[in-house]
Amino acid sequence: MRGLARARSSGKSAAGGPVSDAAPVTALLRLLPTASARLTGGLAALVLLDAALAPALTVAIGALAGRLPAAAGAGLDSAAGRGVLTAFGVLALIYLANVLMDPVIAGTSTRLARRLAATVSRMTMRGTLRPAGQAPLDGPRVADLLMLAQGRGTGQLPVGLAVTALPRLIAVRLAGVSAAGLLLLFAWWAPIPLVVAWVVMGRRQDRATRRAADSHAGTTTELRRAEYLRSLALEGAAAKEIRVFGLGEWLVEHFTRAWLTGTRELAGRRRADVGDLACLAGLIAAHALVLVPLTVAAARGDLSVARTTICLQAVLGTASLGWLGDLQWTITRAAAAAPAARRLAELGRGAGGSGLSPLPVGSGLSAGPVKAPALGGAPAHAIRFEAVRFRYPDRHAPTLDRLDLTVPAGSSLALVGDNGAGKTTVIKLLARLYDPAAGRITTDGTDLRALPPDSWRRHIAVVFQDFLRYELSARDNIRFGAVDAAPDRHALASAARRAGADAVLDGLPDGWDTPLSRRFTGGTDISGGQWQRIALARALYAVEHGARILVLDEPTAHLDIRAEAELYEQFLDLTRGLTTILVSHRFATVRLADRICFLDGGRVAEEGTHDELLAAGGRYARSFSLQAATLTGEAHA
Ligand SMILES: Nc1ncnc2c1ncn2[C@@H]1O[C@H](COP(=O)(O)OP(=O)(O)O)[C@@H](O)[C@H]1O
Ligand SMILES: [Mg+2]
Repeated sequence: MRGLARARSSGKSAAGGPVSDAAPVTALLRLLPTASARLTGGLAALVLLDAALAPALTVAIGALAGRLPAAAGAGLDSAAGRGVLTAFGVLALIYLANVLMDPVIAGTSTRLARRLAATVSRMTMRGTLRPAGQAPLDGPRVADLLMLAQGRGTGQLPVGLAVTALPRLIAVRLAGVSAAGLLLLFAWWAPIPLVVAWVVMGRRQDRATRRAADSHAGTTTELRRAEYLRSLALEGAAAKEIRVFGLGEWLVEHFTRAWLTGTRELAGRRRADVGDLACLAGLIAAHALVLVPLTVAAARGDLSVARTTICLQAVLGTASLGWLGDLQWTITRAAAAAPAARRLAELGRGAGGSGLSPLPVGSGLSAGPVKAPALGGAPAHAIRFEAVRFRYPDRHAPTLDRLDLTVPAGSSLALVGDNGAGKTTVIKLLARLYDPAAGRITTDGTDLRALPPDSWRRHIAVVFQDFLRYELSARDNIRFGAVDAAPDRHALASAARRAGADAVLDGLPDGWDTPLSRRFTGGTDISGGQWQRIALARALYAVEHGARILVLDEPTAHLDIRAEAELYEQFLDLTRGLTTILVSHRFATVRLADRICFLDGGRVAEEGTHDELLAAGGRYARSFSLQAATLTGEAHA
């Protein structure tokens, strides 16, 4: 069964990689001891004990039935009557034990399910966070796995459900096995036709439904769309636009459609075919094969009443070896999170897994042993992009093409260019979220690829265009600039003051401890401009802890050109002596930077000080005059 399942699921997903390598239930069983070895062992023991009670009950009923005829004549006072009472007592005890086992098993499996859910989340998070670069996370393949690992790809079946259902499945199966065993009381061959018929039929059904689940797991695109639409409606960020544009009904309708399409294969309905009819015929024949001789033997008196009763129950009991419908279906679907989590846990492991390229050997780039640069990589002289070429995986044209750029240490550089020119991409390469396809980036002559990404990044603080607004305390929002360092009140206060965030903090009801979101008790929302101050403080807190390269990548989207110019000027004042990069598509806001690079067509088109560039009369000069007119226009308005 495992072999079959593995062969099936090794099929490629639509996104290009196999989604699950192991049958979900196998993967689940392997995960359980990781979640809790103690609870897994306990649960296994309980399930086995419970399984033993099922045939015991069958035998006890048989024993009771066997003693009834004699006692019926002799009365309860007789030896036969006492035999009946004893048999009844034993039956009652077994029954009671059986009843008591259920809550114990349910309690244990619920506790194990809770642990498993945490384990799966932890594996998923660690795996997703492990790749040093961003590339391994791009694309729909990882998105599919993430959906499944969170139980959302199976239409919201949490993985824990598989654990609470599994003991029931095992108990039912073992009861089936023991029923088959009890048929030996009639004849050695009696279990064979029934076991074969039920197992063949069950496999067939299981295979069909599993095929549906597998093909579903290959691409969860529709479900992801549904999830996205639902989150738009339920999470706050879109509330304004949804109301203004009246998108509500559209969202509900499209969510419903995407959800029903996305889960259709999971419904697992299929038409019966000839094979199913053959299975059914086989099942009827197997029953006839056993029941006819059994009845004849009982009627002839060759089989005692006790044995006949046991065997009749056992015949019915073998059905537990067949298809268990919902139970099996639920487990297979809920367990789909297990192989997905395992695959995600492997993200970033092995050659190339980080998404970053190792230093090419023998390319001349790594000639000689790599000298540890001063300060472990922080540049004392310059960071250089040398003939850097970079293309996003899903793009035809390169975004950066033979880009040469020098960022002198300890001074400020402005990177200007139109929207989409590749400015943010330059910053991403600098922070090693991606590596160049050709060329190299060096710090004081050392290829960045020779440095561990983590230690290189400690030198860099970036306020991105889309910086994060953590719905956590103001303190956490700022101290994330150096999360490994013990929170340092002086450094926090100093970063906040320099970023102009102290006014924001003074206005918070609970100061530094205030959650910056109304979705949390005692929390409050702050304005876009205030968020920007907090984000700036975060970067400056990183500087307090040793970051020497500071980047502002247009975190100024909602600022007008004048406010952006003011912020950048303030910032240049604040960061004198640091290696600073200001990014903007508004040429007029960065004229005070020591050097300005104008990015166009994937490379630096013009470069120099503001005055030099103006004097050159090129595109920078033209764009600048155009935008400067706006600036002065606003000033006069
Ligand atoms: N993750 C990505 N995948 C594919 N293409 C991207 C990605 N990020 C940016 N691009 C594309 O690369 C080009 C440069 O983008 P970007 O560096 O963000 O420009 P800028 O910051 O100058 O506005 C754009 O054409 C953009 O669409
Ligand atoms: Mg950008």
